[in-house]
Amino acid sequence: MTVQPNVESLDPIVALCKRRGFVFLSSEIYGGLGSCWDYGPLGVEVKRNVKDAWWRAMVQQRDDVVGLDASIIMHPRVWEASGHVAGFNDPLVECRHCGLRVRADKIDESPQKCPKHEGGHEFGEPRMFNLMFKTSLGPVEDAASTVYLRPETAQGIFVNFLNVVDSTRVKLPFGIAQQGKSFRNEITTRRFTFRTAEFEQMEMEYFCRPEEVKERYEYWRQERLQWFIKLGVNPDRLRLRDHAPDELAHYSVACADVEYLFPFGWSELEGIACRGCYDLGKHSEYSGKKLEWHDQTTGERFIPHVVEPALGTDRAILVFLTDAYTEEDIDGNPRTVLKFHPKIAPTKVAVFPLLRKDGHPEKAQELYRTLREHYSAFYDESGNIGRRYRRQDEAGTPVCLTVDHQTLEDNTVTLRDRDSLEQRRVALGSIREELIKVLGF
Ligand code: GAP
Repeated sequence: MTVQPNVESLDPIVALCKRRGFVFLSSEIYGGLGSCWDYGPLGVEVKRNVKDAWWRAMVQQRDDVVGLDASIIMHPRVWEASGHVAGFNDPLVECRHCGLRVRADKIDESPQKCPKHEGGHEFGEPRMFNLMFKTSLGPVEDAASTVYLRPETAQGIFVNFLNVVDSTRVKLPFGIAQQGKSFRNEITTRRFTFRTAEFEQMEMEYFCRPEEVKERYEYWRQERLQWFIKLGVNPDRLRLRDHAPDELAHYSVACADVEYLFPFGWSELEGIACRGCYDLGKHSEYSGKKLEWHDQTTGERFIPHVVEPALGTDRAILVFLTDAYTEEDIDGNPRTVLKFHPKIAPTKVAVFPLLRKDGHPEKAQELYRTLREHYSAFYDESGNIGRRYRRQDEAGTPVCLTVDHQTLEDNTVTLRDRDSLEQRRVALGSIREELIKVLGF
């Protein structure tokens, strides 16, 4: 069976994201800033949910991983040691006619028509282009004040290795996890939020003995793949792909990508890299501080090896959106619905009064106030009930509860399930238990 992407193009998803307030083009009133996007009221909830799910799974539900939140701007020597100043380059080609610059290996992603040459673009020889954004720290802008916006969160972890070891009771093997913004002056940034200049990463460096690294690498490859499946992503549209030796980043000795079948084909969602002892070794060399593990029982000293699962938060959100997007025909009526896993859905439960009179709003508001103590809930009394359901379908809300005439007589409400569209009466007294059953929490 050939697997198909969930949608043919990202266009309807981009349109829904704007219509419902998930994602907006950055600075749109000024014409937008290519490659930067803003999360709207629903999008910011999804983003928090994705980050929370990752933090729960990677830090809070484990005994062997601790968290960190390092600064974005770091000492410039960090990027010399890590190899990013010398090696974080993409090959760039420029059109002789219109000046369009694209990555040499991504020419097929660039607009095909050249506005200044009927025969199309004519690209020159590739030249290397550093992806780091430079800025200055302090009032004087000179070489001595040059700093960089971090292009990955990982280095904040490596330079804090000793601080974490000295201030906690971690024992090898252990991980340090971090979430935060990263910046890359990407040349090719089409495809919505897939590749942007400013993005967020969720990375974890797992330190272990050199002889254990293969086993740990295998473990994290599977663990990370399963994380997406547990959160509802269709397993047929996920796969692990091992990198060929010529694809490996300058620091990596082995790497696999979790890939997703986007409308534009299989593409990287997350990287799981075996970074060896490259980073701790380089920082030891450049800083003069020994970033080693000291085994108290055997007296051994060595630089641990590292396995790194590195995920882009925005790319994960794009996958959850793309995979959840569904267009259906219900008895001749089209409906668009985001079939999010309840943990990812921005709103868990919506509460409606059937009418805006006869005591319905008061009863519905009382229910809404009770539920929002436990869930991200939404109250809506505007428009007809069918329209309200459709809006919540597009927002991906798993459950809607409606208060009507019968509620006032027997204290039951209608529970409508987003995916099955089943509607059933549920007693108000057992609403929390019902929601736990449907949502799983
Ligand atoms: N520390 C290793 C590292 O940064 P990477 O493969 O360059 O590795 C890890 O990045 C993940 O970050 C990618 O798999 C992707 O999900 C995300 N990512 C990287 N560059 C991105 C960009 N320009 N826009 C959005 N996400 C990006």
